[in-house]
Amino acid sequence: PTDGAPVTVAIDGPAGSGKSSVSKQVARVLGFGFLDTGAAYRALAWHVLEGGGDTDDASAVVASIEDFDYAISLDPDDHWVRVGETFVTDAVREPRVTAAVSGVARVPAVRERVNVLFRALVAASGADGVVVEGRDITTVVFPDAPVRILLTAAPKVRAARRSAELTGEDAAAVAAALHRRDASDAKVVDFLTAAPGVTVVDSTELDFDRTVDAVIDVIRTATGEN
Ligand code: DC
Repeated sequence: PTDGAPVTVAIDGPAGSGKSSVSKQVARVLGFGFLDTGAAYRALAWHVLEGGGDTDDASAVVASIEDFDYAISLDPDDHWVRVGETFVTDAVREPRVTAAVSGVARVPAVRERVNVLFRALVAASGADGVVVEGRDITTVVFPDAPVRILLTAAPKVRAARRSAELTGEDAAAVAAALHRRDASDAKVVDFLTAAPGVTVVDSTELDFDRTVDAVIDVIRTATGEN
């Protein structure tokens, strides 16, 4: 773009849609930055737990925003997350954090705070473009992005992909946990319905590479680079 602002590619979708891995690969192929917004919510949940707080206590969560010193890499090939001096890239994926994160994400003051951060990160990225993925990116964080995509997949397929990632866990338990988290997340933002102007990419019948190609097609069409 002539004004130097990065092309923002907003991608929303539920857990197990392949959103993170697909978004990261799309960013690599296009030479764009990659921002995993869920990682910010996870980092804050980690921070609350680390301070001995209860993530279901909204006032404790709001208080913990005050000393939340958060940094994240936008490099799809080196995607670290840091809170204070501690690198929490792997720690934020731990089941205890996954179980706690919805409590943090449902607090409006948290959402307002991280959204400001996300917009600042993209603006300062220096990249030609940034792929930003989450739940409310197409609707709240970057509603004016030139490319907005909802990446979906049938619930059964999402559960199967999740259990393939988590080796050794019971498939039915994984499906149940995914369903619980969707239901809890959906109370905060509707990430299962495409807002007007948002392109749906359904990966139910697509493998990873074809999903990446489908997303890149949408981006090229929207940005006029065919
Ligand atoms: O995508 P994920 O599993 O890493 O997301 C972690 C949690 O954060 C999940 O419970 C939904 C929430 N989230 C959100 O509410 N809004 C976003 N933009 C991204 C994630």
